[in-house]
Amino acid sequence: MKEILKINKITKIYKNKFKALDELSLNINEGEIFALLGPNGAGKSTLINTVCGILNFDDGNISVNEYDIIKDYRKARSLIGIVPQELNLEAFETVWNNVNYSRGLYGKSPNYQYIEELLKELSLWDKKDNKLRELSGGMKRRVLIAKALSHEPKVLFLDEPTASVDVELRKDMWKVIQKLKEKNVTIILTTHYIEEAEEIADRVGIINNGKIILVDEKKKLIQKLGQKILKIELSESIKSIPNALESFKLQLNNEKNILTYTYDTKGKNTGITSLLSEIKSLGLQLKDISTEQSSLESIFLNLVKESENEFARA
Ligand SMILES: Nc1ncnc2c1ncn2[C@@H]1O[C@H](COP(=O)(O)OP(=O)(O)O)[C@@H](O)[C@H]1O
Ligand SMILES: [Mg+2]
Repeated sequence: MKEILKINKITKIYKNKFKALDELSLNINEGEIFALLGPNGAGKSTLINTVCGILNFDDGNISVNEYDIIKDYRKARSLIGIVPQELNLEAFETVWNNVNYSRGLYGKSPNYQYIEELLKELSLWDKKDNKLRELSGGMKRRVLIAKALSHEPKVLFLDEPTASVDVELRKDMWKVIQKLKEKNVTIILTTHYIEEAEEIADRVGIINNGKIILVDEKKKLIQKLGQKILKIELSESIKSIPNALESFKLQLNNEKNILTYTYDTKGKNTGITSLLSEIKSLGLQLKDISTEQSSLESIFLNLVKESENEFARA
């Protein structure tokens, strides 16, 4: 597997001394859909704008297809397309002119056939002579994607492509992104919707306070998602986990009065009934019982909490 984008220990400090990226490293595989997930203010846009050369950075290095984005600026930049978070378009131009013009900005010679195919693929062809101000929000976003793809980049960044769009359009957008993947375009998108990362990404990276706190295959995250935790509080503490309960792989807390059992909600048999009847036949008295979901949401919140604690300690 080839790593098409290598981000190595990037630090970005804004003029007001705010450190928005903190020695952040991340590698992206060619052809994957990577979702950068994080709360508002985490540093997602800063990271994307840095990689795309819109913002400068203070330390570290970045390469696209082995081209350093500073030393080989032109080559690196020509491989990248970006769909920015904000919708800013030349309102009085037509779709056709706008997208062809964007291609020219990258020093590429005109290719009307390519642009025609692109507009058709994005369901924009019948709007090609419309002025941008005549388009709906969703169509404008498609134009932004067309512009970003006008010079045939290998890596496409989408900064919150579905923020403040309705459910229908979001699904449409996911289809567009999936189609691009089929054409072997590498996709990096930012989002603060967990559902979005779950839906379309191959891998998910979680960012907070300018640091990547976790990168994992989405499938693995979902596996963790299907797990629940059962907490069994006993009336009296025990010395150790009884042998009869060994097969349940329980954990005992330091005070030795709470047993925790992790089970798979997607499995046929959770094992809860037999666990509780074993506990009963051992004569242990229960004080309380509770379950916790380890959803991506809670994994996310816990990770963010942990990294905030680290942040506070630093
Ligand atoms: N031009 C700037 N000057 C100072 N701080 C900034 C600037 N732009 C963004 N920030 C700060 O950097 C942090 C990351 O911002 P941003 O990358 O936009 O986050 P995200 O896209 O994840 O919401 C935020 O705390 C934001 O307030
Ligand atoms: Mg942002």
